[in-house]
Amino acid sequence: MTSPTLDGASIPYLRKQGSATQLIVDGKPFLILGGELHNSSASSLAYMQPIWKRMQALHLNTVLAVIAWEQFEPEEGVFDFTLIDGLIDEARWHDLRLVILWFGTWKNGMSSYAPGWVKRDYRRFPRVITSDGAPIEILSTLGAETQAADARAFARLMAHLWEVDGQQNTVVMVQVQNEVGVLGDSRDRSPGANAAFAGPVPAALVAQLLAHKAELGAGLLGLWEAQGFPEKGSWEEMFGSSDQTDELFMAWHYARYLDGVAAAGKAEYPLPLFANAWLSSLGDAPGGWASGGQKPGEWPSGGPLPHTLDIWLAAAPHIDFLAPDIYQPQFAAWCRQYTRRGNPLFIPEMRRTEEGARQLFYALGAHDALGVSPFGIDSAPATPENPLARSFAVLAQMAPSILEAQGKDSMIGFLLDGETPLITQKLGNYELEISLDQGFGQNAQKGNGLIIATGPDEFLGAGFGFRVRFRGLPPGPALAGIVAVDEGEFREGEWVAGRRLNGDETGRGHYWRFYDYGSNADGGRSIPHSSTGISRCAIYRYV
Ligand code: DGJ
Repeated sequence: MTSPTLDGASIPYLRKQGSATQLIVDGKPFLILGGELHNSSASSLAYMQPIWKRMQALHLNTVLAVIAWEQFEPEEGVFDFTLIDGLIDEARWHDLRLVILWFGTWKNGMSSYAPGWVKRDYRRFPRVITSDGAPIEILSTLGAETQAADARAFARLMAHLWEVDGQQNTVVMVQVQNEVGVLGDSRDRSPGANAAFAGPVPAALVAQLLAHKAELGAGLLGLWEAQGFPEKGSWEEMFGSSDQTDELFMAWHYARYLDGVAAAGKAEYPLPLFANAWLSSLGDAPGGWASGGQKPGEWPSGGPLPHTLDIWLAAAPHIDFLAPDIYQPQFAAWCRQYTRRGNPLFIPEMRRTEEGARQLFYALGAHDALGVSPFGIDSAPATPENPLARSFAVLAQMAPSILEAQGKDSMIGFLLDGETPLITQKLGNYELEISLDQGFGQNAQKGNGLIIATGPDEFLGAGFGFRVRFRGLPPGPALAGIVAVDEGEFREGEWVAGRRLNGDETGRGHYWRFYDYGSNADGGRSIPHSSTGISRCAIYRYV
């Protein structure tokens, strides 16, 4: 995790701060406030023209954009840099960074982004065969020529990024493939895959599993334990005969394939690389297997899911982290599952709705996320009232404070709703009771925020639809009251105080309050309808 340099240039890299992992860009921590474009948007620079300004209006600092193998290498060995160069130019012009998504051999399990010369040559580039004996439009992980061809193209892309962007670092990370895994069956049943499945589990994997036995996820550990923890044997001898074992086998092969592609790219330009996952139904326990009636193959079998994370960590040392695409309702639980074994959380895809706008605060505040990125960002209305724009406007101002607090146990993030209208959390010297902002002219049905302890009795908070009461932790009196609440903004990183909030705005001195996104239905009585969404609160204790 030391700063990589090539010819003296400082390259974006990952560095630890306390328990957090941070992305370092231009020598400083960088928080990705991103949005992922629809799949086909970046395939045309003309189509993208009006979009860049909207990204700025949404207060993003990063755009996640596709570079597709089919357009990058339309003929074998002939590379087209028009799109990547155009994206970099426009991003720079609009003061945005890029995360490039390499849609190579796989995209959502399928191989639809492979160039025509790959698709047509199905003998050289073999397909997955499912249990009915038929090949499908998914390239097999066992195709050595396929991996070599993808790795060559990816390496060319990374070499080009180094040439045109190694000094400016507009591109800060690259995603390798997209949501990989076999769809329609729990594993590849081509002759090569069947032979590998009947053969021994690779010794390198067994060695890794033994070295990390105490940290393994419950699902994998359970399968291995049921067989008596053998230290060698075929996949079925080591893990039993089931769809789950099939998925472990696929995870190893996808991860090895991606690792080979990633290694070839990193040799040219060592940017942080990651792989993303199409999620299953939620696992029961951290690292536990999916429940909810689905089975591997209904989600892409072998992708980097919580229950295959240990295999991916063993197989893909050139992939820096694994990232969930979270559209499911159990947002917090999925975030937690992706912070196992030191994996930093980054969410390349999530909802762009009001719900998504709320979830940004939780991921950043509760899990020290490297960044967040709602999907289909080019169709999000870039209006100031859109909760997504309001959230990103607040988070953009808060980014330096968030980065400063990461990894130090001095920040919390939360989501409130009808099911969980109130939580208590320890922060610094206090226990905070955080609840939906209801009463006193407000009726928030949902709440979201993050709070940072900035001093022994001082807090900085951001968000919408919640309120806070404090209780002192020993030593010292438990009773705690508000000294002052100041609403404000960060301009160019400097705090500029606005209103001193008191009276109705603090529920007569009882609460530190954050109004909801503009809904403030107070019947025209007490609460002004606007707020910056950011305030500071000073507390005192009394007996
Ligand atoms: C997940 C994929 O990773 C994206 O590329 C996109 O297809 C979305 N699903 C659409 O919901």
